[in-house]
Amino acid sequence: MSTKKLAENVYSVGAKHPERRVFDELVPLPDGTTYNSYLVIGSSKTALIDTVDPLVREQLFNNLKRLKVEKIDYVISNHAEQDHTGSIPYILHAYPGAKVVTNEKCANMLNDFSLVSSDKLMIIKDNDTLDLGGKTLEFSMTPWVHWPETMVTYLKEDGILFSCDFFGSHFSPADILAGEHFYMPAKRYFAEIMSPFRNNVRTNIQKIEKFGIKIIAPSHGYIHLNPQGIINAYKEWSTDDVKNEVTLAYVSMHDSTKKMAEYLRDALEEKGITVNYFDIPVSDLGEIAMALIDSATVIIGGATVLAGLHPVAANLVYIANALRPKTKFVTFITSFSWGERASEVIKAGLSNFKAEVLAPVISKGSPKEAEFKELDRLANDIAAKHREIGVLK
Ligand code: FEO
Repeated sequence: MSTKKLAENVYSVGAKHPERRVFDELVPLPDGTTYNSYLVIGSSKTALIDTVDPLVREQLFNNLKRLKVEKIDYVISNHAEQDHTGSIPYILHAYPGAKVVTNEKCANMLNDFSLVSSDKLMIIKDNDTLDLGGKTLEFSMTPWVHWPETMVTYLKEDGILFSCDFFGSHFSPADILAGEHFYMPAKRYFAEIMSPFRNNVRTNIQKIEKFGIKIIAPSHGYIHLNPQGIINAYKEWSTDDVKNEVTLAYVSMHDSTKKMAEYLRDALEEKGITVNYFDIPVSDLGEIAMALIDSATVIIGGATVLAGLHPVAANLVYIANALRPKTKFVTFITSFSWGERASEVIKAGLSNFKAEVLAPVISKGSPKEAEFKELDRLANDIAAKHREIGVLK
């Protein structure tokens, strides 16, 4: 990725990784990602803010070479995860005078990951500042977006907030400054990474709003030249509000569960409810995570295998539960041939949902008239609940 000038003596110097297709061996990356790193040059000191995944560190080094950077005094580490810190040892090797500036929790993690030795660390606290000579960095602790040690760095003179993962997006655009297209990539990122911590997100937004931010420069994806756009989007996504939507995600082996899912989808749509409909084995986990942000109701559809829940559905139940969605109602539909424990697995697996459990529909074999009637009953129940909470008029 080429360098971008954000202000006088402030540059983006990070790396693109458009071909990366999965993150943490879990999160799909249909559009790749970037690891944004920033260089701030003061009259006396130079700081590099976060580094890049070591797989693409050559791009970072090429950018530093292009800008003829002969010395780095500080490497600011906003977050210990290795996609931002994995290249720190290489930077310290190339710039042996540099110190790594971070908070104590992050420093301990960098030690744990064998990335930085204690003698190279400079520990800062909330609200501390670092003078680079005409460029002042202020550090603000913003825990749990999305690890406990996360912090942001604010460049006072230029109004730039370096926010690391906070406000980021896994996207590898042609131009990281083309921020008007930020919404969907940022929503996907929020859904996959930030949504379990939405209370912390709200608190941390209040905290950073004290700064007169002109630019938000995260460490993935678009740089936000209109900071209020992404701040407003984060406020919207992190509320407890839900919409008149159902997420219906199912897996079916011989079409019984599929027939139930299709019937229920159509019945709900006829009542004016938007259904986010996913055949789990061929669906993108990020799309499902995004649907969970808005849905008042979640329905898991699971075929039965060996008397238990189909593992593909079980995996989704596990992930959805970990995302702690703000769903108000949850239920399930299952079919089985000779033994039914799928529903027990689903109920136990959704323990993090603070949702009312609606009566499920379970079919022995393919669904027949009685099961279709039950699916109508379930559609009616969901519509009534949506009216009760005011999302369906
Ligand atoms: Fe982009 Fe949590 O690392």
